Amino acid sequence: MKQFTVNTPSGAYAVVSGRGIAARSGALLDSLEPISSVFLISSPVVWRRWGRLVEESLQQAHATKTILFDDRERSKTLATAERLCRGLAQAGADRRSLIVALGGGVVGDVAGFVAASYARGIRIVQVPTTLLAQVDSSIGGKTGVNLPEGKNLVGAFHQPRLVITDPKMLKTLPARQYRAGLYEAIKYGVIGDEMLFRFLERRLGEVLRQGPAALSWVLERCIRAKAEVVSADERESGLREILNFGHTFAHALEAATRYRKFLHGEAVGWGMIAAAQLSVRMKLLASEEEARIAQLVRRVGPLPKLPAIKPERLVELVRADKKARSGRLRMVLAQRIGAVETVEDVPENLVKSTWRDLAARGKS
Ligand SMILES: NC(=O)c1ccc[n+]([C@@H]2O[C@H](COP(=O)([O-])OP(=O)(O)OC[C@H]3O[C@@H](n4cnc5c(N)ncnc54)[C@H](O)[C@@H]3O)[C@@H](O)[C@H]2O)c1
Ligand SMILES: [Zn+2]
Repeated sequence: MKQFTVNTPSGAYAVVSGRGIAARSGALLDSLEPISSVFLISSPVVWRRWGRLVEESLQQAHATKTILFDDRERSKTLATAERLCRGLAQAGADRRSLIVALGGGVVGDVAGFVAASYARGIRIVQVPTTLLAQVDSSIGGKTGVNLPEGKNLVGAFHQPRLVITDPKMLKTLPARQYRAGLYEAIKYGVIGDEMLFRFLERRLGEVLRQGPAALSWVLERCIRAKAEVVSADERESGLREILNFGHTFAHALEAATRYRKFLHGEAVGWGMIAAAQLSVRMKLLASEEEARIAQLVRRVGPLPKLPAIKPERLVELVRADKKARSGRLRMVLAQRIGAVETVEDVPENLVKSTWRDLAARGKS
């Protein structure tokens, strides 16, 4: 088992990773302050695969109650959070109760928001079951739900007390969901870990097949990267922004397609191809490096085709993204594989020409 520490002003916590460790979840809680009762929050889909295993382990050490909710993105609402809070209240949850979130990013975000709010905040342990949740959303304490007006508009920072990452749980994940998480892994390579990027170039086949050694290695590099960035900048004021490489375009694509066409990771795949191209146009990145980024992204698998959006509309959507502060086009761009920077004034015409070029090539 490997252990990584996240150090934030609101407290330090461990991310532990290892094959099969989810079956020891109960014992892993021993390192925490006394717990009165445990509430396992999950979804029916995840529960069918992994629920018993985790529940039995928790029950060995603690009184455990399980609450399930449908983890479709459209259930990521205040109404769901209310229902979960009421479930906690009815079962007598108190300030020393602990939530264990078992699932992907939706379960983690909603359970995290419930933990941040119930009784003004109770503890939460994340047990992420998607690749995206393991490398990204389970670490960092961003929690929240959607409003009809926008995604993740209501939320809070609430760090978990522990994150238990078990690569074995990815075995049952649909292949498309797994690939979507891999784009975020590529992102960590581009923003700060050239060795990770090269490893993915060399051993992508093994990683795609979930070969245990290759997968664990990649997972651990990503966890370390996320833990470091979050430790340096808990509230996303500066450094944490680099995690948004590829995300400005991705958010625009997701919004333009009403979040229906792309999985988030897939939009990030296109977003990184676009951001790399734009970086070349800005003379920040060598075109050979841009080609390597595009090639690695494309090797992961087929991406859904790009929608037909006019460049003007794309720029509008990019501006609407919260990363474009005060109407200026602000973006994270690549200098080389392993280093990125935030650029304040990205010329609009370069964003448009990048998009035009990409749309022309992305149709097939
Ligand atoms: N808090 C953050 O920092 C952060 C970061 C990125 C994304 N997010 C959020 O995460 C959400 C997306 O999360 P996601 O990509 O993990 O997808 P998800 O939670 O929607 O899960 C994808 C699908 O896989 C199923 N599933 C999960 N684990 C499984 C397993 N082991 N076996 C079989 N099926 C399984 C789920 O039931 C679901 O149908 C979005 O709502 C996004 O806003 C949050
Ligand atoms: Zn992302």
